[in-house]
Amino acid sequence: MMTPEELLTTTRTVRKRLDLERPVPLDLVKHCVQVALQAPSGSNTQRWQWLVVTDAGQRAALGEIYRRACHEYLDSPNAAAKLFADDPARARAQQRVGDSIAYLADRMGDVPVLVVPCLETASSELPAGNQAGLWASLLPAVWSYVLAARSVTLGTAWTTLHLKYEQEAAEVLELPKNVHQAALIPTAFYTGETFKPAARQPLEEVLHLDRW
Ligand SMILES: Cc1cc2nc3c(=O)[nH]c(=O)nc-3n(C[C@H](O)[C@H](O)[C@H](O)COP(=O)(O)O)c2cc1C
Repeated sequence: MMTPEELLTTTRTVRKRLDLERPVPLDLVKHCVQVALQAPSGSNTQRWQWLVVTDAGQRAALGEIYRRACHEYLDSPNAAAKLFADDPARARAQQRVGDSIAYLADRMGDVPVLVVPCLETASSELPAGNQAGLWASLLPAVWSYVLAARSVTLGTAWTTLHLKYEQEAAEVLELPKNVHQAALIPTAFYTGETFKPAARQPLEEVLHLDRW
């Protein structure tokens, strides 16, 4: 059994270690979504909807959209591998992330389960203002899904690059106009034993006591 701290510090973005061959029981994914439904939402609205995609044709269609968006990102100046080039230690970590992103770019459609968490709003337009309140009524649940998956030995990767072509993906998924995608989360058993905490920016650089 993992301690809560172990779970929180070793839940990594899994790309190269997603097992593309091993089928994932749908009930296991449903269990993780069930756990996620315990997350908070503003005014207890629970306006989340979860698209769990297992059909090979549907996965291939989403995978193709992701592939296109991801290659455009990899070619752009914002690609992870091009960031923090003036800091050698950080640049090395960014190179690894970039390499890993490039690996998943061409394999998204081969991952056994793709989960698309969505937010349902009253109309097709996203409400103006308070974006933090709006999306925080979904994103904690998405992170709970990721943690629940890790605790049952499923690996996931929180991805959003396909949202550049959100409308195309919405058509594949036949989403109503008032249902907005938040992420595309490939889900599969992971290879290897476990994961380690990652290097992060030091606490002293990000923590402010009483004032900035
Ligand atoms: C909002 C958000 C969007 C992300 N989008 C992508 C993505 O589209 N593709 C991808 O491979 N990783 C994506 N990531 C994963 C990050 O690259 C990853 O969290 C970061 O490199 C740190 O690695 P770790 O999660 O393993 O600690 C995203 C993460 C977040 C929080």
